[in-house]
Amino acid sequence: MESMGRLIGKVNPSFWKGKKVFVTGHTGFKGSWLSLWLQDMGATVKGYALEPHTTPNLFTVAKVADNMVSEIGDISDLDKITSSMVSFNPDVLIHMAAQPLVRLSYLEPVLTYATNVMGTVNVLEAARKCSHVKAIITVTTDKCYENKEWVWGYREDDTIGGHDPYSSSKGCAELVTAAYRKSFFNNSNSRFLASARAGNVIGGGDWSTDRLVPDILRAFENGEKVIIRNPLATRPWQHVLEPLSGYLVLAEQLYHEGTAFAEGWNFGPKDEDCKPVSWILNKMVSKWGNGATWELDENSNPHEAGFLKLDCSKAFTRLNWQPKWHLEYTLERIALWHENYLCGNDMLQYCLLEISKYQND
Ligand SMILES: NC(=O)c1ccc[n+]([C@@H]2O[C@H](COP(=O)([O-])OP(=O)(O)OC[C@H]3O[C@@H](n4cnc5c(N)ncnc54)[C@H](O)[C@@H]3O)[C@@H](O)[C@H]2O)c1
Repeated sequence: MESMGRLIGKVNPSFWKGKKVFVTGHTGFKGSWLSLWLQDMGATVKGYALEPHTTPNLFTVAKVADNMVSEIGDISDLDKITSSMVSFNPDVLIHMAAQPLVRLSYLEPVLTYATNVMGTVNVLEAARKCSHVKAIITVTTDKCYENKEWVWGYREDDTIGGHDPYSSSKGCAELVTAAYRKSFFNNSNSRFLASARAGNVIGGGDWSTDRLVPDILRAFENGEKVIIRNPLATRPWQHVLEPLSGYLVLAEQLYHEGTAFAEGWNFGPKDEDCKPVSWILNKMVSKWGNGATWELDENSNPHEAGFLKLDCSKAFTRLNWQPKWHLEYTLERIALWHENYLCGNDMLQYCLLEISKYQND
């Protein structure tokens, strides 16, 4: 589809070439993939985040820092994030830094709210001081909606909520984003703020704890059974490059078209890829072979949503964005990524090939 002579629906490398992009959370799983993709398209990238929190981690394994300015800092430090962003003076800001784990949010609610809510306030305050920034995206999650445990996908104008501290903190980040848009980014025609709500992201290079695919791979590698809390929980699973492509398409539209795109957007998989945990487990067990198996965790665990999916009709229709890789293929890509990593291959090159494959598929 063409809009004003520009291609939309697909990531457009010529838009990103030469753009200055500030990414918070660039040392994390999604941030590392996004930084590599932006570098590959010729953007000038600066990242601001804490040190990677796992060993190994994608940021180090794929040498993400080699082609960008990487600053280690806390988004809770308003002065530091402000001076980091202002000195770079970006054209585009993508805010992904967060405490993103549901289980950790039960153990560390104060840290979770401080990072996800006040951290978002600080990042948006810093953006107010930048004279060039035109497109700003706050990354939240499918969990920002009040979960009604119904069978329908959540739409962008459904009620924001959240049962556990993580989900609720991301709901709060949505409210902060909406208030900043109305209060500070609406009366000028120079900067536009949107939020993006993605599904459960999976892909090569995630070593976080308490996430399904990393937990499965860790257990398989160690020859252990995978212990599963909630095999019937159904989630909108998607390859990491899917929502990232959505953020990039949205940012370009925001940059050119402004207000019409300055709102909340869902980026999830097609309905048929909203599968229960047990489906992924069984597929991965059969792909891995080698006696891999799983069992139910009988302990009582904190509440997690049972059924969750996103209605992405708005992104399909207005951005012409579509998910490309279905879930079964995504699991194959992850297994291949992991095999290459275990063989000691150059994972920077492998990630770039994966990005190019995704772009061209
Ligand atoms: N992974 C998923 O399934 C998923 C799904 C939907 C939304 N998200 C959102 O996407 C974003 C990235 O998630 P991820 O999976 O890459 O997580 P991650 O844990 O791999 O990365 C989080 C990043 O945030 C940074 N960070 C955390 N606290 C910080 C602080 N106080 N100051 C500065 N930086 C800080 C970390 O250093 C890291 O770079 C998050 O906003 C998350 O909520 C993730």
